[in-house]
Amino acid sequence: MLDEQVRSVLERLEREDADERERGAAASERSRQVARTTGQFLFALVAPQVDCEVLEIGGSRGYSTVWLAAGVRHLGGRVLSLENDPAKAEAWRRTIADAGLEECAELLEGDAFETLERIDDVFDIVFLDAEKDDYERLFALARAKLEPGGLVVADNVLSHPDPLAQYSAARQADPSLSSVTVPLDRGLELSVILR
Ligand SMILES: C[S@@+](CC[C@H](N)C(=O)[O-])C[C@H]1O[C@@H](n2cnc3c(N)ncnc32)[C@H](O)[C@@H]1O
Repeated sequence: MLDEQVRSVLERLEREDADERERGAAASERSRQVARTTGQFLFALVAPQVDCEVLEIGGSRGYSTVWLAAGVRHLGGRVLSLENDPAKAEAWRRTIADAGLEECAELLEGDAFETLERIDDVFDIVFLDAEKDDYERLFALARAKLEPGGLVVADNVLSHPDPLAQYSAARQADPSLSSVTVPLDRGLELSVILR
């Protein structure tokens, strides 16, 4: 499923994340990457799809991007990742090169509120993993890039009920969506666009 190159990059990032947490590094200095099982879940969502176009909002050092890009590599597709922190963006490029996934993943560096305005593409899946207070506005921008059948996956809806319980409630009350909270790791809200 995962080749040795991908596996060793994931393991390195997991070790670095564990070290940073252990020595109490500030959140802004950490990758704040998803849990391994969330990565596996993202892989499983995209790998069965043909030509799966993924938009990731909050790429950090590329840990979740590796899972998504390794997934789309099976049946075609690509991941476009948005990241505004220059140091994280540099680390993202190194991660993707080390994993041998440059043909499946691309980084757009800058503030997602600006870069999203410049993107004309239509996506199949959006992975939302940026600042929690921005989810509502980022969801609105991302939704404009999805057609019926498209999916938004938002992380941290259980680990950060303030403010994200409101995000989940709003998605679940919207009749143009089908939305469910998946209690995996920090909590994922999966919202399918119905119309
Ligand atoms: C929780 S981390 C993402 C972790 C990543 N998805 C992973 O699992 O490896 C959130 C990232 O979003 C970035 N970010 C926050 N607000 C942003 C914005 N408006 N535009 C682009 N990136 C943003 C932060 O710099 C940070 O690296």
